Amino acid sequence: MIDEGKLNKFVGQMLGDLGGASSIAMARIGDALGLYKALHSDGPMTCAALASRTKLNERYLREWLSHQAASGYLTYDPAATTFTLPPEQAMVFAIEDSPVYMMGGFDVMAAMLDNQPKVQAAFKIGGGVAWGDQAGCMFCAVARFFRPGYHNNLVPQWLPALDGVVAKLERGAKVADVGCGHGWSTVLMAKAFPKSQFIGYDFHPGSIEDAKAHAAEHNVSGNAKFEVAKAKEVPGRDFDLVTCFDCLHDMGDPAGAAAHVRTMLKPDGTWMVIEPMAGDRLEDNINPVGRLYYAGSTLICVPTSLSQEVGAALGAQAGEAKLREVIGSAGFSSVRRATETPFNMILEARP
Ligand SMILES: C[S@@+](CC[C@H](N)C(=O)[O-])C[C@H]1O[C@@H](n2cnc3c(N)ncnc32)[C@H](O)[C@@H]1O
Repeated sequence: MIDEGKLNKFVGQMLGDLGGASSIAMARIGDALGLYKALHSDGPMTCAALASRTKLNERYLREWLSHQAASGYLTYDPAATTFTLPPEQAMVFAIEDSPVYMMGGFDVMAAMLDNQPKVQAAFKIGGGVAWGDQAGCMFCAVARFFRPGYHNNLVPQWLPALDGVVAKLERGAKVADVGCGHGWSTVLMAKAFPKSQFIGYDFHPGSIEDAKAHAAEHNVSGNAKFEVAKAKEVPGRDFDLVTCFDCLHDMGDPAGAAAHVRTMLKPDGTWMVIEPMAGDRLEDNINPVGRLYYAGSTLICVPTSLSQEVGAALGAQAGEAKLREVIGSAGFSSVRRATETPFNMILEARP
């Protein structure tokens, strides 16, 4: 027996979901063509004014603006025929340093769609899809998605939540950022703590090239270096701090990486592990954050780990208990959740 009320409610949810999916391409057009930024700096605007300001085709713009208004991304004033990007929406679409800037999320969704054929094939034949073989610019999309969180939290919140680390960084410490990707976390720390030396390591050569370019752009090449290395083979020793941002669960052998990190640290050093927020059980993660992360995990994280030796495939929703088990297996004497945001948990492990 079909319950009409439940059916209507679910179809309503699907309308919302499909509407969100339709926004992936539309929001990325707004970003790539500078439409959100133009509306933010010069709005409210009519379609004709936006066309003249951006030198873009007015007919296409009218359709795009109408979609944005129907999505609640812009507001529309029928009397003046103007479109406005409200300040709250500007924080999501136009202001790159805002804590809720989400354009990177739209890029990740597009890259996940690109990844579908390779990952879908792996469902049948097993095995992974190597990070370097993933879609288009998965690497740039992921870096862009995480950057606002790091920009707003890393220096003001996360590092101060660790025991004694900021004082060491201010005096001059040696830091390894393992699995650094495009190096935004490394660059932010190098900027904030000019007396400390930072080395970002990642096994993906293309990402290391991008990280070097970001360091040069931000004038921190003097104290932020980057090298290609697998987590288990990072060459340095005597680090005061080792960081792993959103990457431990992507590694094939996170327990092996944990054991190696322990050998890299000074006896009084610290390992900061930033992982996606998650409860320990599926039933704890049946919520909007869990929904997004399980999709990312299926299409990005699990295939990345399964393509490597061991193939532990912790998944992006591993949860604190599992992460503690992995870290604890390397003999760290203490592991604690130092702080958290709605998207991340920050764990502190001591040798
Ligand atoms: C989700 S990305 C996060 C990148 C970066 N830390 C950030 O937060 O933007 C995961 C990163 O882990 C790296 N990675 C995965 N397995 C690795 C391994 N075994 N050794 C070194 N890097 C690894 C990937 O190349 C990728 O850059």
